[in-house]
Amino acid sequence: MSSLSVPEDLKARLKASYDAIAPKYNEWAIADPALRLKYLDRLLALLPLSDQSQKLHILELGCGCGIPVTQKLLSHPNVVVTANDLSSVQISLAKGNLRQDHSEDVSNRLIFEEGDMAVLSFRDGSLDAVIGLYSIIHLPRAEQAELLGKIAGWLKPGGYLLANFGEEELESFVMDSWLDDKGWMFWSGWGRESTIELLRQVGLRVVVEEVGREIGDAAFLWVIAKR
Ligand SMILES: C[S@@+](CC[C@H](N)C(=O)[O-])C[C@H]1O[C@@H](n2cnc3c(N)ncnc32)[C@H](O)[C@@H]1O
Repeated sequence: MSSLSVPEDLKARLKASYDAIAPKYNEWAIADPALRLKYLDRLLALLPLSDQSQKLHILELGCGCGIPVTQKLLSHPNVVVTANDLSSVQISLAKGNLRQDHSEDVSNRLIFEEGDMAVLSFRDGSLDAVIGLYSIIHLPRAEQAELLGKIAGWLKPGGYLLANFGEEELESFVMDSWLDDKGWMFWSGWGRESTIELLRQVGLRVVVEEVGREIGDAAFLWVIAKR
């Protein structure tokens, strides 16, 4: 079912859905991590990871259960991750996955921020990278545009955004039962050309712009952009 309206209780409904379908979503998502890892590797290759004297501060928006992206970020000892998600179930699964997964205690370089990414706030010029995979697409597109402006401000000069967006322009797309009976879901997006234009308008230089599709999923625009 598609619809043009954005429900007033959008965030509460999305939180309830992801709380309910998190295990099912994660099983599906973890089974095919290739595209996420391909673009994450391209981002990591751009960051000064070998300089152990420097801590790199990375924000992950909509981290889900932390696998594979947060997990891979934390495998680099100088990376500090702020992991955000709207769903308390996802945050609690991520805590379990990430704290058990490392022989080293990662708690001093892993901060969880539960809540809506649209209301997060960070100091200007304080982040080396921001990542949002299959997550910014759940914001109404006016909020996406606003968030991109904030991200551009939070990034250090020379910092990067890695994110994916719907390839097609879609003001509002709703499904009543995505993956599960309890999976009411909402997506939105500006489409390829307008997303790239928005990134330019907020002062980010697009260095990677590719369309990729995972098996059984829609096509997404994958972007790496530099401040
Ligand atoms: C499709 S999953 C993607 C998870 C993970 N990034 C991945 O690549 O598998 C979307 C995630 O974004 C979260 N999410 C949805 N809307 C959000 C919002 N407004 N703020 C923060 N997280 C949100 C959901 O709870 C869910 O964990």
